[in-house]
Amino acid sequence: PEAITIQELANRMSERAVDVIRMLMKQGAMHKITDVIDADTAQLIAEELGHTVKRVAASDVEEGLFDATDDSTDTETRSPVVTVMGHVDHGKTSLLDALRHANVVSGEAGGITQHIGAYQVTSPETGKKITFIDTPGHAAFTAMRARGAKVTDIVVLVVAADDGVMPQTVEAINHAKAAGVPIIVAINKIDKPDAKPERVRTELLQHEVQVESFGGEVVDVEVSAKNKTNLDKLLEMIALQAEILDLKTNSERPAEGTVIEAKLDRGRGPVATVLVQRGTLRVGDIIVAGAEMGRVRALISDQGETVQEAGPSVPVEVLGFNGPPEAGDRLAVVENEARARQVTSYRAHQKRENAAASISGMRGSLEQMMS
Ligand code: GTP
Ligand code: MG
Repeated sequence: PEAITIQELANRMSERAVDVIRMLMKQGAMHKITDVIDADTAQLIAEELGHTVKRVAASDVEEGLFDATDDSTDTETRSPVVTVMGHVDHGKTSLLDALRHANVVSGEAGGITQHIGAYQVTSPETGKKITFIDTPGHAAFTAMRARGAKVTDIVVLVVAADDGVMPQTVEAINHAKAAGVPIIVAINKIDKPDAKPERVRTELLQHEVQVESFGGEVVDVEVSAKNKTNLDKLLEMIALQAEILDLKTNSERPAEGTVIEAKLDRGRGPVATVLVQRGTLRVGDIIVAGAEMGRVRALISDQGETVQEAGPSVPVEVLGFNGPPEAGDRLAVVENEARARQVTSYRAHQKRENAAASISGMRGSLEQMMS
């Protein structure tokens, strides 16, 4: 599976592709520029052209960026990260808005101008914070999971009491189960005259979501986003679930996080909304995410304020990337720019190689880099 296109090999050596093809021809093989050759052949060609070849395994480049397996230093409690999911029009956005505004200190309600894909709500009862992720639709959730990004601790499943369990409700249930994330059911639109919360519970049972009143363990809360009914109770249930999960982190280490969304802003350049998961992200940090790198120029909170740092479970807008990373990319702080360049150039190569390999009908990723 270790292979490289002739074009890419030539690029890395700063040689012309025709010269590579000529070398191959001398060895009796006819090739086009888009052809893929194996790593041993590539090494031979490179050496014959006078280059030194250094094969680098992915594990070497990525080494030490994340040590998710070592959580022995995670001893601080962190706030839960909650994703709201459910069928179209069942009131996800309304519920999130209501929760956010319930939390906003009086008079500041109109003050939230910035929409960032994630924000924190402080429970008025407990004073504890909860991080909500606004953006991921079901597809984004799956994509992030497929890329190994685990951002959600709890799923709030919104089901409209007047509509009941619908296809995307089932989809959300399946996603949450596959990710092993506990579900809290918010039976919404309870204010409607045709609301039938009991029917929702019965329908959920058919999809193996057994609420407490039916002898199960899934918590359900009847809410109305419109009338702001039971929002405090919902927050309380989330806090309770978080306590059970016993979420830990370490804010003292270099930051690790996940890109929730990213864009190229005309005025501000690349802007990424990042959920910090471990460690503390600071202005001036050198960061990598996917194939992009940068130096943190500014951090902007969910309240639209400039901050100097962001700790675990805190969502922030990050300015300073050279280009916008992709949603689901994992962010890491590295010790210097050389390291950042090594990681991102390797990843960029890998990305190109994968694209090239799939174009030439070959599968598999490339595991070496030559210089
Ligand atoms: P998508 O993002 O399109 O999937 O929809 P959503 O789940 O975010 O639903 P949204 O919050 O946009 O609400 C859909 C409609 O339901 C809007 O017209 C809301 O005003 C209405 N709605 C939401 N919550 C309630 C509620 O508690 N009671 C009533 N009566 N209407 C509600
Ligand atoms: Mg919505």
